[in-house]
Amino acid sequence: MASAGSPPLPLGGVGVVVTAGGTREPIDPVRFLGNRSSGKMGNALVTACREAGAEVQLITAAAPPVGPGVSVTQVETAAEMQLAVWRALDHADILLMAAAVADYRPRRVAEHKLKKSAAELTLDLVPTVDILESLREHPRRTRVLVVGFAAETDDLLANAAGKLRRKGLDLIVLNDVGAPGVGMGADDNAVTVLDREGVVLTVERMPKLEVARRLVALVGERMVRRHEA
Ligand code: CTP
Repeated sequence: MASAGSPPLPLGGVGVVVTAGGTREPIDPVRFLGNRSSGKMGNALVTACREAGAEVQLITAAAPPVGPGVSVTQVETAAEMQLAVWRALDHADILLMAAAVADYRPRRVAEHKLKKSAAELTLDLVPTVDILESLREHPRRTRVLVVGFAAETDDLLANAAGKLRRKGLDLIVLNDVGAPGVGMGADDNAVTVLDREGVVLTVERMPKLEVARRLVALVGERMVRRHEA
């Protein structure tokens, strides 16, 4: 809490939704399709948002951070995450969509454990919902600053800029997941942030919490600009 005379916190009283981790799409009662996301970047964003005075709702498919002051919704699948995000945005000003959402899920979930009965097994996959794209229909969409995260290995800037436009985002945080020592599962990260005009911030390799603090500072500036506009 700010003591008398200290400057106001940059996100004081602001509602932030953070998504984290990789969704798991079930195959049968014991198996799932997943990805390498650890949830560390999302958890670092939660810490940085709390430091900035925000009221944080975390929606996570990974282990949540331990600590007070954060409302946590644990989810497993992309569909569950979509529902939780839609609900949370009724009471939020900012969405930081750091989760690695699975793009496909098995068409059918086997009720019983699949047995090793055939030489080959083919899984029939169908697309999951694109959560960010679906938000175009959310009644409060225009009142929320939406930040996407792009995990890329090739044509980094062009792919990230394409996602920003396709998903109707305010900012996109580009992450080179092919670079050694950063990105999924690592303790460090290095990112480039774009808006519709181009690159607005470059953060060299550093611990994820430091990266998160810089992202939160940028988001705080964008919120001020919005209120002044
Ligand atoms: N995302 C989403 N819903 C999905 C897939 C991704 O909301 N079904 C969000 C992610 O949380 C992230 C952003 O979209 O903030 C970009 O995710 P990414 O995996 O990089 O892009 P995709 O749209 O999945 O495209 P591709 O896998 O082809 O790179």
